[in-house]
Amino acid sequence: MSALSGKHIILGICGGIAAYKSVSLLRLLVKAGAEVQVVITPAGKQFITPVTLSSLSQKPVVSEFFTANTGEWHSHVDLGLWADCMVIAPATASTIGKMAHGIADNMLVTTYLSAKSQVFVAPAMDLDMMAHPSTIANINLLRSYGNIIIEPESGELASGLVGKGRMEEPEKIAAVLEAYFSKKADLKGRKVLITAGPTHEKIDPVRFIGNYSSGKMGYALAEECASRGAEVTLVSGPVSLSISHPAVRVVKVESAKEMLAACEEAFADSDIAVMCAAVADYAPKEVADRKIKREHSEVPVIELVKNPDIAATLGRSKRQGQRLVGFALETDHELDNAREKLSRKNLDMIVLNSMRDKGAGFGTDTNKVSIIKADGSREDFGLKPKREVAADIVDTILTL
Ligand code: C5P
Repeated sequence: MSALSGKHIILGICGGIAAYKSVSLLRLLVKAGAEVQVVITPAGKQFITPVTLSSLSQKPVVSEFFTANTGEWHSHVDLGLWADCMVIAPATASTIGKMAHGIADNMLVTTYLSAKSQVFVAPAMDLDMMAHPSTIANINLLRSYGNIIIEPESGELASGLVGKGRMEEPEKIAAVLEAYFSKKADLKGRKVLITAGPTHEKIDPVRFIGNYSSGKMGYALAEECASRGAEVTLVSGPVSLSISHPAVRVVKVESAKEMLAACEEAFADSDIAVMCAAVADYAPKEVADRKIKREHSEVPVIELVKNPDIAATLGRSKRQGQRLVGFALETDHELDNAREKLSRKNLDMIVLNSMRDKGAGFGTDTNKVSIIKADGSREDFGLKPKREVAADIVDTILTL
């Protein structure tokens, strides 16, 4: 039986030529046993008729806020609650822009804003529109809201031009949804604590000691754990990311001391803790209460003190059954350093990434890791998107 069987799916259709492919997608979803509610934009109806769609979905197609002749109100809120997922295919540049900025002037965008479940977005547009900085920025915004982008393919476009912008084929979109629903809820009932990002250690009111950590790996881990059923506390240093999964509680902190306090509070109650943050090792001994001025007679000397080691502190209070996972970002002697940290911090597993590997470490969207367990075993993984690396890490934690 398909994982889509019995699932409630909202299929959002926008006004693009690829809308003809939505008919095949609808058929595939219905065939797999899903209950599909089509929501179409006014422009979408210029490309494909509601009669075709309602015949296939066996449900009236929703497009307006009201049915004109009866005044019946279509509740986007109820629809949003009903859905197990929403897929917008094709998603045009205009609708992507509206979704990114909350411009709720049609039923599709209001439904999107009300949807509590996972949203998939399959963009389709001409190559120049696809490559425009505005489109790229809007798609990145959708990603930051936790939406999954089903990337368009490169190929021949309706305009006759050739490039990136063809909506992904319906079979592939259906496969993405199928894979999403077949995922095991193997972290259901577990509480997971994750640290992410850098810490900022104040020097004076305008300066700090920090590092290049973007938080992407930790946020991907939080998303992955939440999507597998965990209740997640994400203790995050200063980063420009956001997360929208309802099962993730974000605690924003700035310094290592604040991060430690937030972790100590959450750890007692956690089954798994993953220390992904790049915590500053040292902090200024004293924080100047005014900006340190350049006109000093001498170059100021900033005295540093050691920061608490959060992972090691949690390692000392670890209960039986709790799992503690650390990260090691190394520039040399990678394996030896990682193994030493694993034992010194009383970790059950350590995820090693090397600054020497291209595409790994700080700021990138990909990572290449080796995972070493406390029993000494090691597994090396290839270069992958951080979300897939997160899945490998969670799979490995579950073997402990
Ligand atoms: O010793 P190092 O900083 O390289 O250790 C890395 C691991 O320890 C990471 O899991 C990191 O999150 C954690 N750590 C910590 N507190 C610190 C320093 C590192 O929790 N002060």
